[in-house]
Amino acid sequence: MRKVLLVGGAGYVGAILAEELLERGYAVKVLDRLYYGEEGLRDIRDRVELIVADMRVPPAGVMQDVDAVFNIGGLSNDPTAEYNPKANYEMNTIATQRLAEICKREGVRRYIFASSCSIYDQGVGNEEKDVLLDEESVVQPRAAYASSKYEAERILLQMNNDDFCPVILRKGTIYGFSPRMRYDLVVNTFVKSAFTQGTLTLHLGGEMWRPLVDVRDVARAYIACLEAPEDKVKGQIFNVSYRNMRISELALRVQSALADVGVPVQIQPDFGYRGVRSYRVSTAKITRVLGFRPVVSVQESVEDLVEKIRRYGYTDFDNPRYYNIRWMRLLEEAQQIIGITGSVFEAGPSEARA
Ligand SMILES: NC(=O)c1ccc[n+]([C@@H]2O[C@H](COP(=O)([O-])OP(=O)(O)OC[C@H]3O[C@@H](n4cnc5c(N)ncnc54)[C@H](O)[C@@H]3O)[C@@H](O)[C@H]2O)c1
Repeated sequence: MRKVLLVGGAGYVGAILAEELLERGYAVKVLDRLYYGEEGLRDIRDRVELIVADMRVPPAGVMQDVDAVFNIGGLSNDPTAEYNPKANYEMNTIATQRLAEICKREGVRRYIFASSCSIYDQGVGNEEKDVLLDEESVVQPRAAYASSKYEAERILLQMNNDDFCPVILRKGTIYGFSPRMRYDLVVNTFVKSAFTQGTLTLHLGGEMWRPLVDVRDVARAYIACLEAPEDKVKGQIFNVSYRNMRISELALRVQSALADVGVPVQIQPDFGYRGVRSYRVSTAKITRVLGFRPVVSVQESVEDLVEKIRRYGYTDFDNPRYYNIRWMRLLEEAQQIIGITGSVFEAGPSEARA
């Protein structure tokens, strides 16, 4: 049986990818620091080997018996990367390189890296730049998150040789249900807002473009990169997206899908907020080279999401655990307090006893 290592495999994407891999008969090893707990793996916990460790200092022997590595760990959005750019760089760039070096040393050929279409960000308001971008387009990412992903890509491509096969997936913004749920991704945020407020806020009127893709399609794209003949994927970058949409169109589609499942929602434009990203990408390459095409529409995904939110009770929408930046801040705050108290409920240290 082929064994794969998922670095960051307890995350939003990892939980779905691990399930898909198990279903296809792979043995799955997960290396994860478990920032968001183990909930993502709850249905498959007895079928995966879990190594709780930091990807920056992988334990010796982690690549033993492994045939391929997916690197889907690290800080996974702009706010967390801006919050701690040093940690972001260490995880998204340096650790990506270190893991690749270990692969090379241990003879693990295929290394599939989670990059992001956010490296294409052109901002809003410059019409000349508002064009479809592909894997050959010149990009100049500035934000901490996108820059760290882009630098990691370039390092991996330089490491490409006869013994090592790096593959890069630049994913659009992901939507859909995962047992490690995120409500800080635009479609999921819209669904959460519909439940909690009955309105969706359209920043800048929803003018910006975004490539979007369902999490199950993302898992299938990873598996396509794993199973493709090496000469098709070696040293290649692939964009992965179902469709590019303006956020205004996306909101209308989400509104219509929600109406079909009995969740009415109003759309509220907001022209005050300007910190928005905008980019649209071509996915012709992954279809041409691998024959891969995402199939799950926004409407279908939203209906599935609502059904699973209800079935599994993911209705504590304000729980900070579902929002990466809120959760990371909270963990830091808790760490500071526990640094003083020594423990949450155990009797703590006291300097002078009564
Ligand atoms: N979700 C999206 O829309 C999207 C889009 C494009 C790219 N990506 C990329 O895909 C990957 C997966 O994204 P996600 O949505 O599943 O994110 P996520 O935040 O849900 O999962 C990341 C996982 O990595 C783990 N992790 C983080 N830092 C770690 C460390 N130092 N050591 C070990 N484990 C660590 C976390 O505990 C978590 O389980 C990320 O690399 C992200 O940048 C995501």
